[in-house]
Amino acid sequence: MPICSVERIIYGVSDLAASARFYDDFGLQAVSRSDSKVIYRLDEGSKVILLRDDDPSLPVHHYKGSGVREVTYGVDAVDDLEHYAGRVGTDREVRWGDDGQSIHFIGPENIRLALRVWRRKPVLYAPDPVNAPDNVKRLNQHRRWRVRAKPKTINHVVWRVADMHACLEFWRDRLDFRMTDYQVDAGIFVRPEGANQHHTNYFQRAEALPPFTLGFDHVCFGVEDIDEILAGSNYMERRGYTSPLNGVGRHRIASALFCYFDNPAGGMAEYGADTDYLDDQWIPRVWEARFGAFSWTNHILPFLPEEVPWEVSFDKTLLPDGSVPEKFAYPEAAREEAASHPDEPAIG
Ligand SMILES: [Fe+2]
Repeated sequence: MPICSVERIIYGVSDLAASARFYDDFGLQAVSRSDSKVIYRLDEGSKVILLRDDDPSLPVHHYKGSGVREVTYGVDAVDDLEHYAGRVGTDREVRWGDDGQSIHFIGPENIRLALRVWRRKPVLYAPDPVNAPDNVKRLNQHRRWRVRAKPKTINHVVWRVADMHACLEFWRDRLDFRMTDYQVDAGIFVRPEGANQHHTNYFQRAEALPPFTLGFDHVCFGVEDIDEILAGSNYMERRGYTSPLNGVGRHRIASALFCYFDNPAGGMAEYGADTDYLDDQWIPRVWEARFGAFSWTNHILPFLPEEVPWEVSFDKTLLPDGSVPEKFAYPEAAREEAASHPDEPAIG
């Protein structure tokens, strides 16, 4: 029943050859290639489709330039399509695909979306165990040696938007997504009911962060571990691609390792690994934007010259059962109790 992760992204690009060369180098596997269309298929069964930006089959632009024109999420069955067509279609057109296996509609900010019947395939990953002193997980065994990255999943898609709250409302109230974290005045992270990575989408407030324009920002592809990220990154750099955040780092929100590359197909493509996985017991947090953004980076970023204040709290309005758990409520209650008995030692 629930919507799961991203089943396909469709690009409209001004330079198909350069876009395909990028994704070939990035490590995606093409399953179909012509002068007008290239299709990549990842191990989980998701697809990246490149089309020329004047292709008549493409959904119209909702921003200028190359980039992702439509994002499709998977659902289990045609019944689910009918269910969501009813909920989405209360105030907008819903178009059925010719094969009856998909519906297409326009979300907030003219973002093109679709749902498609899809059974995601589990992928085969076996990260090398990590050693630490007196905590040996690999004895007489070296880590795998890698030359290239080969992403196996589409982890998340990011749009730069004018009204991130309106986006949250649509994805939450029409499509049953959960908010997983809130970066104050900068962005909102969401995941659908049927996917457990920290986020499948991020609504980045366009006014808050570079490049300050509306549109598609980036797509993140899942790889196995930091070795695969760095092997992929070395390979890309040798081929002349640029990494706008100067290489590898770890986000504090989602705990994910990252490495971005400018993408001639539009926006950026990101290698991602070791993200947090969540279920509905997760309690969203409210983050100071800079503190949440990065745990560390391999170079100090120009806009983060100093340590930033540790500012994060739980969003108590979004607890799973709508109540404040005892472990968080206790100190406040205890302080009130202590205040009514001023002769007793205070609880700090
Ligand atoms: Fe990302």
